[in-house]
Amino acid sequence: MAKQYITSIGIIGAGLMGRGIAQVSISSGYNTLLIDVDDSVLEDAKTEIHTRLDHEVEKERMTLDQIADAKALLDLSNDLQDGIGHVDLFIECVPENIALKQNILTDIHTKKECIIASNTSSISIDKLASKTDRPDLIIGMHFFNPAPVMKLVEIIIGDKTSQQVINTITHLAKEFGKDPIHVQDFPGFASSRLGVALGLEAIRMVEQGVASVEDIDKAMTLGYRHPMGPLELTDYIGLDTRLKIAEYLQSTGISPSFEIPNLLREMVNEGKLGRKSGRGFYEWKEGKKL
Ligand code: CAA
Repeated sequence: MAKQYITSIGIIGAGLMGRGIAQVSISSGYNTLLIDVDDSVLEDAKTEIHTRLDHEVEKERMTLDQIADAKALLDLSNDLQDGIGHVDLFIECVPENIALKQNILTDIHTKKECIIASNTSSISIDKLASKTDRPDLIIGMHFFNPAPVMKLVEIIIGDKTSQQVINTITHLAKEFGKDPIHVQDFPGFASSRLGVALGLEAIRMVEQGVASVEDIDKAMTLGYRHPMGPLELTDYIGLDTRLKIAEYLQSTGISPSFEIPNLLREMVNEGKLGRKSGRGFYEWKEGKKL
């Protein structure tokens, strides 16, 4: 039986999302083991989390004692096995690659009966669960970047996900201070299906010369009150990440909206990945748009 109330969480993958979720998890009082194969990524994640927690004190949203407690709840490991021994639940945040995610899920379930929540942006939860013999313990828990700031958690319910697992993850999302929605396991769920369609259309508009990058973005920020335009957001998320999600959505055949513009492929091939590489639709330095 999986534990209903969770005290200790393993987060697999210390990239952009994994480290943001780890910050949320320790700030909410959970023992958190952040796991990544790359020690330098782990150290970088820890430094970033500490800096962001210090900022919470500057902004008087947390006290020095609270951030000291939060920092003490964070452990790092380069070995998934450490998590198997210690945590009640895993949140999987590795890149959008079905085989990679399936291997991690099956590896855990051959050694431990526990809930595994995938932070996938688009991959079917049923597909991810199909290789483990406990599909009832698999669920989607989709966070948004930057995870400490964004209020939404999209909970994706697979065909075989148990009601107890849905309840546990809904409770956890609320403990994390998030406002969860429940979505059935359709490609792209509720958020990515809309967000990616808008992003791809904006790129097609650049290709067709409809307006400048800045003006297409302004159409959405000033005209629709989006906090960022779709091209800036594509830079922010990463063009490579967007392309991977779009390729998956296109392969499902759910909608012609996911046809991939050549410009997106070209930019990824040229290493223009957005914020993370310093160049995308905009120029970026130290995480800020120039
Ligand atoms: N981690 C933690 N906090 C962060 C952060 C990060 N990575 N990035 C920014 N913040 C915080 C800043 O510290 C700042 O906090 P303070 O008020 O304490 O100073 C706050 O966010 C606002 O930041 P800024 O003042 O620098 O800039 P802003 O007001 O323009 O807000 C933004 C930045 C929150 C990112 C805002 O532009 C925004 O909401 N953009 C849209 C983001 C979005 O759509 N995300 C979803 C992407 S889709 C996704 O993630 C799903 C997927 O599967 C790919």
